[in-house]
Amino acid sequence: MAAEKKKYLFEIAWETCNQVGGIYTVIRTKVPSMVEKWGEDYALLGPYFPQTASAEFEPIPVTDETPLGRAIISLRQKGLGIHYGYWLITGKPKIVLFELETLLPEVDAIKGRIWDNHKISTLGVEELVNQTIVFGEMIRLLLTEVAEEHKNKTQLVAHFHEWMASTGLPDLKKDKVKISTVFTTHATMLGRYLAGNVPNFYDVIENFDWHKEAKHYGIEAQACFERAAAQKADVLTTVSDITAKECQYFLGRIPELILPNGLNIQRFAALHEHQNLHSKYKESISNFVMGHFFQSQPFDLDQTLYLFTSGRFEYSNKGYDITLDALAILNRKMKEAGSKKTVVMFFVTKQPYHSIDPEVLHSRAVLDEIRENCHAIEKEVGEHLFKASASSSDLQMPDLNAFVDEYWRMRLRRTVQTWKTNARPKVVTHLLKQEDDIIRNLHRTNLLNNPDDKVKVVYHPDFIVSTNPLFGLDYGQFVRGCHLGVFPSYYEPWGYTPLECMARGVPTVTSDLSGFGDYMMQIMRDYEQWGVSVVNRKTQSYQEAAEQLANLLFKFVQQSQRDRITQRNRVESIADTFDWSNLRSYYDTAHELAIIKKKR
Ligand code: G6P
Repeated sequence: MAAEKKKYLFEIAWETCNQVGGIYTVIRTKVPSMVEKWGEDYALLGPYFPQTASAEFEPIPVTDETPLGRAIISLRQKGLGIHYGYWLITGKPKIVLFELETLLPEVDAIKGRIWDNHKISTLGVEELVNQTIVFGEMIRLLLTEVAEEHKNKTQLVAHFHEWMASTGLPDLKKDKVKISTVFTTHATMLGRYLAGNVPNFYDVIENFDWHKEAKHYGIEAQACFERAAAQKADVLTTVSDITAKECQYFLGRIPELILPNGLNIQRFAALHEHQNLHSKYKESISNFVMGHFFQSQPFDLDQTLYLFTSGRFEYSNKGYDITLDALAILNRKMKEAGSKKTVVMFFVTKQPYHSIDPEVLHSRAVLDEIRENCHAIEKEVGEHLFKASASSSDLQMPDLNAFVDEYWRMRLRRTVQTWKTNARPKVVTHLLKQEDDIIRNLHRTNLLNNPDDKVKVVYHPDFIVSTNPLFGLDYGQFVRGCHLGVFPSYYEPWGYTPLECMARGVPTVTSDLSGFGDYMMQIMRDYEQWGVSVVNRKTQSYQEAAEQLANLLFKFVQQSQRDRITQRNRVESIADTFDWSNLRSYYDTAHELAIIKKKR
């Protein structure tokens, strides 16, 4: 039997060393697992952007000792800007980054060839599409040279993510370059546009004329590149059964494989460690909540639950609409039941704003001053008490009041007085540039932080980063400090947000129209036992789904603290299921299949 050929894998993505959205997370978190399998026989290809590269990229000299090295040298001699080095992330993979400007003057010629060969019209496209055309061409040139250098001695595999990395794929196929190709689409261009604009999108998905719709939304070139890559690759894959349907109807091919997304799950040796972190970060959130609400509406923090949703501002796709409507129902249910609990719901997304609301910042600052006053008094009382106790001759407890200096007493009282107000706590933490659907919905349902509301809302129209003065937490810490993540999406090719909750031991709500929710239902029959609730949006009406979500939330709110602690432990214990060490095998299968199909 002939010895098996050596293999080499290229993975190509617009988001290699270039964070735009979720694909960056896929690529980056998967690296350690990929490097473990492929070692030196693996490289990632991406576009070169000096600002990101200066932080994440370390160049290394290129030598003519390897086929990749020789290919890079040859293309550099032809004037192409190609950077080679390490991506400075866990796993430290080799990467090749392309300076798009060096080929941009040729873009019209490349477009002409693409039209001649594949009839993809790229006239008048936006600048980003021009960049992807140049990117695709540089990849094509590199892979063609590499394949020639290897002289058929190595089994080469190129794995393309999304259309933005794949504009050169059809020509690789046409030129019969000796390389097996996998194309993964993480969503489809048309799916994203249509799901957000057409009611009951899934019911009518079979009826769309993809080309007509692409023209209608001004994304003809993108949709054509996506379709061409999907049809020409040796293997087509996508991330969930949800997007597989889109592939079938919009890209004209049923994917051979589904590749679910994973994370690097950080497990702690001791179980209580993740509980301690929850406690610690919850305190930071509580500090914010005190500053924001207690000015006019103090409530019992031991009976308060922090719920949140987060993601891009896609009001219906992300299920913000249904979440808001369910919260209004929850508020009513809690009032009717005379619940002692308070729910604070955070909406974390990105919308244009002028600045953080100065009043929100001010309230927070005054609360900090109150805390400092209390510390000063505490210190003073402590020292006096110690001296009085040491020098006393009887066993009587001294009067602590006598130890507080009049100055501090007055100062504390005055600060608290100036802080307290009758005004309703703000719903939005920032000064938004304009009213949006979240605000409109809150007004419609009157969920506006009224004194008798059991459900309070904090709309934070910016992503959470550690430099944020309101929380002082990064996003991961914020997630840990919360009690429940709520993500009942309508359109969600995969959906990392619920998975990010699980990875941190936080229970979560997702929907059966999200890739993650759908996958969870397939692999775990008793998913609810493990802290994952799935809202049925496939077969229920909007109103029914909102009611279901409200009931799920109400049930969660009624749990005891002991139940919550147990549930967090259970969630944390299955998080490993989504570690790349378990999910890489799907990618391995895709690569093997591409090799087999190419040989045929
Ligand atoms: C963790 C901590 C406990 C804390 C509890 C709060 O388990 O280890 O010290 O009391 O969280 O849970 P809760 O669900 O009320 O935030």
